[in-house]
Amino acid sequence: MRTITIDQGMRFIGEEVEIKGWLYNKRSSGKILFLEFRDGTGVIQGVLTQADDPDLFETADRLPRETSLIVSGTLRAEPRAPGGCELGITGIGVIQKPTEPFPIELKEHTPNFLLDHRHLWIRTGRQVPILRVRDAVFRAVRDFFHKHGFVATEAPILTGTSVEGTTTLFPVDYFGEQAYLSQSGQLYLEATAMALGKVYWIGPAFRAEKSKTRKHLTEFWMAEAEMAFYEHADNLRLQEELVNYVVNAVVAERARELKQLKRDVDKLLEEVELPFPRISYAEAIRILQEAGEEIEYGDDFGAPHETALGEHFGKPVFIERFPAKMKPFYMKRPADDPSVVLAADLIGPEGYGELIGGSQRVDTLEELERQLAEYNLPKEPYEWYLDLRRYGAVPHAGFGLGMARTIAWICGVPHIRETIPFPRQINRLYP
Ligand code: 4AD
Ligand code: MG
Repeated sequence: MRTITIDQGMRFIGEEVEIKGWLYNKRSSGKILFLEFRDGTGVIQGVLTQADDPDLFETADRLPRETSLIVSGTLRAEPRAPGGCELGITGIGVIQKPTEPFPIELKEHTPNFLLDHRHLWIRTGRQVPILRVRDAVFRAVRDFFHKHGFVATEAPILTGTSVEGTTTLFPVDYFGEQAYLSQSGQLYLEATAMALGKVYWIGPAFRAEKSKTRKHLTEFWMAEAEMAFYEHADNLRLQEELVNYVVNAVVAERARELKQLKRDVDKLLEEVELPFPRISYAEAIRILQEAGEEIEYGDDFGAPHETALGEHFGKPVFIERFPAKMKPFYMKRPADDPSVVLAADLIGPEGYGELIGGSQRVDTLEELERQLAEYNLPKEPYEWYLDLRRYGAVPHAGFGLGMARTIAWICGVPHIRETIPFPRQINRLYP
């Protein structure tokens, strides 16, 4: 007998097959059992009548949810079934039968209960499709960079310096020396870009953020890219192409999952049509004030502001020329106005907030020394970073795309904690 995965079902209609997985759910209507099986690739309904096989019927009737098993049966087309087919069960080999009821019932639970049982919650409901979309987003990002001539590289997680300000650092005792978990691999990618030209990685980032919002994790994954000989405008063009590519690739590869998630895919595809609008921070403030929001030049955008901007444009929008005071030390400033930076945040639609932060980097020693001083940062730990401006400095730029927020937006799920297998938040370190 052929062993298949559930997502291959439609290719073997009429054949007897074997599936290795778990009992996901069970319904019975007297003499008929409807058993749903899951195996990570999907869910399939199996049907068993008492008349067909009384012994098997009795065994199956007693199996609790999440029993691990090998089920065999004949596949038949069933247009009303989610995967297009169902299984006429002929045999069940039990691997392990849980002795206690599975804690996650297929009904509403409180978020805290679900998060406490995250290790089991990930098997149920929309969690599997979300994690399958996550996988496709990671792959699409890598494909994009590979197709564009980038070299994959890595940055250290244990670092001695801050990138994105000193207030969100996670301290680590490094053999008696003060170290931190990396907030971003950017500074190191700037070095590798000078060795390799165009580089990227998808790596973890850590922020001791006091924010408890649906858009913040303390540990999250970022796709970061750094390009030698790129200026601000080149940087934005690359970013919008990346977002457009990723969304199109994921919609094609994970159509079934996005349907399960009830995502409006047409809307998503419309949102990523190129180009994305580019407005200045000053214009964004004006748009928000005209929409009745309370915000002043110099204020950070809060969640309602990001949502309002998303609504105004109906697609991702680049906000350029932020006041330098609002941004980190490494951003280059334009010759025509040194009070702002050559940077942009890409604000996503539908309230998903800032998907990308990027900038052209300071490329002369004088500017970098001045800006380190301006930010009260010591020169000594950044000497290696200053070296990049001493030996063959070139204009360069890069960005970081937040994977969790991007996945949340593509899936249409409101909270990013569902887009990562094990979310880390201020008050959550387990499981
Ligand atoms: O805007 P950020 O802080 O930019 C940087 O770290 C740059 N050094 C990246 C670079 O240029 N190489 O972070 C980049 C993105 C944000 O736009 C957001 O999508 C995501 O990372 N992000 C978070 N995602 C989840 N939880 C958090 N606490 C996040 N902080 C930032
Ligand atoms: Mg940012």
